[in-house]
Amino acid sequence: MAKQYQTLGEFIIDNQADFPYSSGELSRLINSIRLAAKVVNHEVNKAGLVDIIGAYGETNIQGEDQQKLDVYANQKFIQTLTNREIVCGIASEENDDFITIAGCNNDHKNKYVVLMDPLDGSSNIDVNVSVGTIFSVYRRVTPIGTPATKEDFLQPGNKQVAAGYIIYGTSTMLVYTTGHGVNGFTLNPALGSWYLSHPDMKFPENGRIYSINEGNYVHFPEGVKKYIKYCQEEEEDRPYTSRYIGSMVSDIHRNMIKGGIFIYPKSSKAFNGKLRLLYECNPMAYIIEQAGGKASDGFSRIMDIQPAELHQRAPFFAGSKNMVEKAEEFMKKFQ
Ligand code: AHG
Ligand code: MN
Ligand code: MN
Repeated sequence: MAKQYQTLGEFIIDNQADFPYSSGELSRLINSIRLAAKVVNHEVNKAGLVDIIGAYGETNIQGEDQQKLDVYANQKFIQTLTNREIVCGIASEENDDFITIAGCNNDHKNKYVVLMDPLDGSSNIDVNVSVGTIFSVYRRVTPIGTPATKEDFLQPGNKQVAAGYIIYGTSTMLVYTTGHGVNGFTLNPALGSWYLSHPDMKFPENGRIYSINEGNYVHFPEGVKKYIKYCQEEEEDRPYTSRYIGSMVSDIHRNMIKGGIFIYPKSSKAFNGKLRLLYECNPMAYIIEQAGGKASDGFSRIMDIQPAELHQRAPFFAGSKNMVEKAEEFMKKFQ
């Protein structure tokens, strides 16, 4: 049971019983993610200072060059997850191939794989707009004691055991699910502790926000074009309002609080859209469904797609249940 203003540490201990099979590993995994998130948060917050600090030689004690933040975030999450006996492999949007982790005794005994988008919305960094991190966790399917293989990563989203995102916004939040609803924790930067600020988050069934990059309108499928016109029509609760940050984590976080739909469809330029099924769509879909929302590729459930490739892309329609169903109606009608 979620108690408001609990710390994340207390919450994890209290909810340990949710994973009878995991003997504490899943909790330790969430623990390592909250640590990496704090480190990345610190770096993201300094983004505009990098040149200034750099000019005074304060950050380059080790003589390291300033790195791009997505590379930095990628390294931090990988380091933090590797140094614990939980994960046997990591796949990241920033790496061409997955990484296998043998574990301390080189025995390949770890049970989980993590897939992640270390920095989502990275083009927003330069302009001081919210970005995020997305992660997704599966139990391995290959035998314990052998190195992780691609098979462990190419599982449909419905096999996820945990997923979450961090939003580095006006405040920093960690929102995650382990299949027992969705809880959001806000970082108190002075103390470095996360507090349960958004217990049991629920996606409103209806909403009035639509989020899509309308600049690509001419390239959209007919169903999407018609749905956009529907959003703009004058009816009792319409026209809806349009909001698009260009950082999916932030767009979906807002819509989950206020009610809305996020769409990144396929287009005549990109046949499967842009978003990556394993690092972006599946984890967000798991969170959205756990909060009572809906996530599809315009026709069917995102989490039922059997992935064939690590960096596979998928069209994404996600958010308030009734809004996604309405968009799907248009997709079907104007196929
Ligand atoms: P990333 O920064 O990880 O590459 O992801 C950016 C994604 C997503 O966050 C966002 O919704 C979308 O790209 C924006 O794309 P467009 O600029 O094409 O709208
Ligand atoms: Mn992304
Ligand atoms: Mn990214």
